[in-house]
Amino acid sequence: MMSAHMMLWQLRAATKGSFCRRCYRPQPQQGPLRPLTWSPRQLDRKETNSCPSATSNTEYPRVFITGGLGQLGVGLAQLLRKHFGRNNVILSDIKKPPDEVLNSGPFVYADVLDYKNLRELVVNNRITWLIHYSALLSAIGEANVTLARSVNITGLHNVLDIALENSLRLFVPSTIGAFGPSSPRNPTPDLCIQRPRTIYGVSKVHTELMGEYYHHKYGLDFRCLRYPGIISADSEPGGGTTDYAIQIFHDALATAKFTCYLRPDTRLPMMHVRDCHRATLEFLQAPAERLSMRTYNIGAMSFTPNELACEIRKHLPSFEVTYAPDAVRQGIADSWPMSFDDSNAQGDWGWKAEFQLRELVEDMLRSIKEQKKNAAVS
Ligand SMILES: NC(=O)c1ccc[n+]([C@@H]2O[C@H](COP(=O)([O-])OP(=O)(O)OC[C@H]3O[C@@H](n4cnc5c(N)ncnc54)[C@H](O)[C@@H]3O)[C@@H](O)[C@H]2O)c1
Repeated sequence: MMSAHMMLWQLRAATKGSFCRRCYRPQPQQGPLRPLTWSPRQLDRKETNSCPSATSNTEYPRVFITGGLGQLGVGLAQLLRKHFGRNNVILSDIKKPPDEVLNSGPFVYADVLDYKNLRELVVNNRITWLIHYSALLSAIGEANVTLARSVNITGLHNVLDIALENSLRLFVPSTIGAFGPSSPRNPTPDLCIQRPRTIYGVSKVHTELMGEYYHHKYGLDFRCLRYPGIISADSEPGGGTTDYAIQIFHDALATAKFTCYLRPDTRLPMMHVRDCHRATLEFLQAPAERLSMRTYNIGAMSFTPNELACEIRKHLPSFEVTYAPDAVRQGIADSWPMSFDDSNAQGDWGWKAEFQLRELVEDMLRSIKEQKKNAAVS
């Protein structure tokens, strides 16, 4: 028997919900919708469905970020709030937020496995853009496959359904981990064989394919960037294979010694966190007609642990690295791209990274030193 949601999707497919280019809000639907999906809040929204005035606050998208307390969510929220206003960006997670996050803008509890609660939050807050960051990353996922399957795949299904029902623009990041040992590795193009060997990679290929399928079948405004390993000074990495490239800076400044869980010659694509946030914002703002695809590689730089250590030594000459490869993480890294071909992102919507290895190292060392100084003062 056809479920109520399937019926709704079919109606959506027939009517192809669209967005106003100026205010990002969904345009009135052409066809009927399942009556039970209208809550009182949604009825308010329907009544005010025409474009708001140019000076109105509602001109901005209303953004909801899932899994927002990990390495990337808080920084992205900060950037989006600068552009769209503090209260137009809602962070969510299943963890308790630190005070500075609570003080910086709206935060709510949201478990992506709780479909009803997530739908209620989206509807009641009149969300127009959904940024889905919740995930278990590569190394953590291998240690807990059942939970990773649930959060990364069931969570995605919930988010896809809610985005479709509410005509949202949906952004879900993918990763270098969506490729595997049979993919071309140096450079890896957007379209090639994808046979990853981790539950993380498998769930991200599923994300890419489901999102693109919903886009082609139902007109969902799905957008996906394959992030390289992201390097940040002010947030903890979430259990990925590229985490060494963050810890190395902390250990270099604390003890001038670091033990690396990858071989010195393991080359992986990486990106400074500010480039990652800017890429996400620029991609989300790109007019749909500029996008020839819905899933893009984005690149910045590519380095080995040895090359990174050499660059750090230019600032800290006594820095020493020893290598003790971990079988799981080394195995994962050996199956991943060494560098990304991001020529489609460059050509379609103008992507260009600002940070290369030299700038990355200078910025990381400066930021971590500053954090230590501030911590000592307070
Ligand atoms: N950080 C990177 O280097 C990197 C690289 C490529 C792609 N990505 C992608 O970017 C996104 C964000 O990455 P991150 O590094 O911030 O991840 P992270 O692991 O640091 O954070 C993920 C967050 O998801 C939350 N979460 C877990 N289960 C949840 C649930 N059931 N409901 C709601 N939230 C839940 C966690 O509490 C955590 O705060 C992920 O989708 C990841 O796959 C990250």
